[in-house]
Amino acid sequence: MEEDVTGANKASRDGWIFFVVGLIVALIIGWLVYPALLYSERSQPLHFSHASHGPDSSAGMECEECHYFYEDGTFSGIPGLTKCMDCHEDPEFPLSEDPQEIKLLTEYVKPGKEIPWLVYSRQPDCVYFPHIAHVRMADIACTVCHGDFGTRDAPPVYKVNRISRYSIDIWGRNISGHKKNPWDSMKMDDCADCHRERGKERNNACFVCHK
Ligand code: HEC
Ligand code: HEC
Ligand code: HEC
Ligand code: HEC
Ligand code: HEC
Repeated sequence: MEEDVTGANKASRDGWIFFVVGLIVALIIGWLVYPALLYSERSQPLHFSHASHGPDSSAGMECEECHYFYEDGTFSGIPGLTKCMDCHEDPEFPLSEDPQEIKLLTEYVKPGKEIPWLVYSRQPDCVYFPHIAHVRMADIACTVCHGDFGTRDAPPVYKVNRISRYSIDIWGRNISGHKKNPWDSMKMDDCADCHRERGKERNNACFVCHK
């Protein structure tokens, strides 16, 4: 009789151990392994440092010298090669010894080839996002949507969700959907939440963002 009870206790204790170990393994897979497999990674074609072109650097530039608005209000986005060539124009006389500047001069400036930058915050074609309404009319700082991107020393690794095809910057870093910072994700709900918070609910009709 006695032995049977301990046998049952042991079986139930072993059951618990297997349950707890299984749970821990599942959590590790769910939180660490799965997200790592979910995203494919690519690097930018050139290591461009915002820090070494910003106001305090020897290049001494403001954001809008490279990311400006055209007269019709459309946004220039990422500058083309001619902008870089204002300063990096002569393959014979680079500004620095930096291998990335040499790469810029030999692979792009010399053959006159545009740099195929990857855009972290690129929305699908069906979405209409006007920078001018946000930056000029609503006076929202770049950092609110892009974080510290404009002062970083290196471009982050570009990660694309294999299932949704969105970059991690749109889809969100946290798989639970929890946001620590406003720029952690930029999905449809994130746009709409800010419009609501700032009393611009009228911008939350489908046709405003989908033209
Ligand atoms: C010398 C020109 C230059 C200046 C000045 C500059 N940028 Fe950029 N910016 C670039 C280039 C080139 C890229 C593309 C490479 C990259 O992603 O780092 C870029 C990319 C970006 C992106 C990435 C958008 C995306 O989703 O992929 C943001 C945001 C940005 N810049 C913000 C800023 C801000 C904010 C400032 C001012 C603090 C600034 N930039 C100043 C040249 C510049
Ligand atoms: C309200 C949020 C918001 C603000 C503020 C904002 N951006 Fe953006 N930015 C976006 C979104 C969304 C995209 C993607 C647009 C698309 O794919 O059509 C983007 C794209 C970009 C790109 C990639 C190229 C392009 O044209 O798509 C650059 C560069 C950029 N932003 C720079 C800036 C700079 C510099 C500022 C400040 C002057 C700024 N942004 C302010 C949300 C914002
Ligand atoms: C106003 C002048 C100016 C413009 C415009 C400019 N740069 Fe630079 N760039 C500099 C200076 C100055 C340095 C720093 C050289 C040094 O001190 O080593 C630099 C450095 C670099 C380097 C070397 C690595 C580093 O960060 O120090 C790369 C790569 C580079 N720039 C790429 C670009 C690209 C790409 C563009 C166009 C989007 C661009 N630059 C536009 C002035 C400029
Ligand atoms: C941080 C707050 C904020 C975020 C995030 C934001 N918006 Fe806005 N948006 C505004 C405000 C404020 C206005 C109103 C500007 C005005 O009319 O003064 C606006 C206006 C607009 C307009 C109307 C422009 C016009 O011509 O009247 C469109 C379209 C728009 N937003 C699209 C988007 C999309 C798409 C996203 C997400 C990718 C987004 N917004 C994210 C604050 C935001
Ligand atoms: C404030 C801007 C905004 C409004 C308003 C808005 N959307 Fe969107 N929508 C987006 C953005 C940004 C995306 C891309 C990111 C995402 O999928 O969350 C998107 C994505 C979508 C997609 C997926 C498209 C794809 O290629 O994956 C559909 C479908 C869609 N929206 C339908 C609607 C409908 C229907 C409404 C009205 C009830 C609406 N949207 C209102 C910003 C908006």
